[in-house]
Amino acid sequence: MKTKKLYFGTNLKMYKTIRMTVDYLQQLEELTRDISRDEIELFVLPSYTSLESAVKSTDNHVVRLGAQNMNWEDEGQFTGDISPVMLKELNLDLVMIGHSERRHVFRETDTEENQKVKAALKHGFTALLCVGETAEDKAYGVSAEVLRTQLKIGFSGVEREKIPSLRVAYEPVWSIGVNGTPATADYAEKMHKEIKSVLAEIFGEDGRTIPVLYGGSVNPGNTCQLITRKYVDGLYVGRAAWEASAFDRLIRESMEAYKNQASK
Ligand code: 13P
Repeated sequence: MKTKKLYFGTNLKMYKTIRMTVDYLQQLEELTRDISRDEIELFVLPSYTSLESAVKSTDNHVVRLGAQNMNWEDEGQFTGDISPVMLKELNLDLVMIGHSERRHVFRETDTEENQKVKAALKHGFTALLCVGETAEDKAYGVSAEVLRTQLKIGFSGVEREKIPSLRVAYEPVWSIGVNGTPATADYAEKMHKEIKSVLAEIFGEDGRTIPVLYGGSVNPGNTCQLITRKYVDGLYVGRAAWEASAFDRLIRESMEAYKNQASK
């Protein structure tokens, strides 16, 4: 089996203050510095208020930083929102769009996520689009249809040449957070395969090269099973990554499991 680059990211949600974020990033950078960035991409998404200090205290080649959300307009009457221009001012180059908490708590729509994806690309960001079905969708047996809709609308109007600037996180809503149940590796693999085929439909065969990360209750007990699946390109982690040493261990264990299975 050909080896591939692995992707590891964490979304700090609304948990860490500026001080906590900077400490965390410094530890993570130190701990993971020896891991070749040809083998992995590692990214962290702090809260808005921590971004400036995070950028100043982190080597972007070691830990890539990004924002958790963004408005699609450069400026305007959007009280409480942050624009792509403002994020660019911080020298960020990655932005997450459509996290399940944005879609379900803040009622964002696929059309809005699409506007954000297009704005992100226009401003030169890498766009990480999150997709995932709810427990109800799963119970009705429409998970694949939901993912398909989110991807087709989310990436509508995106040119093929933007493929290198795209990432997808598959995060089933029922698997996320303290009340979540992690997806089994078999289930995740099935959905990732589905996602890759929709990406091929949207962008042509090259669409399959867009990294697809699994997220939702990733923990030390399931990383190895997930990362060794053919269609899983990386892990997108919440709680289990919020201590730098735990995230470092999780990354190393995943890399080892992946290499062991790739060499078979
Ligand atoms: P948990 O790993 O805490 O379930 O969170 C996943 C997530 O939402 C990443 O964006």
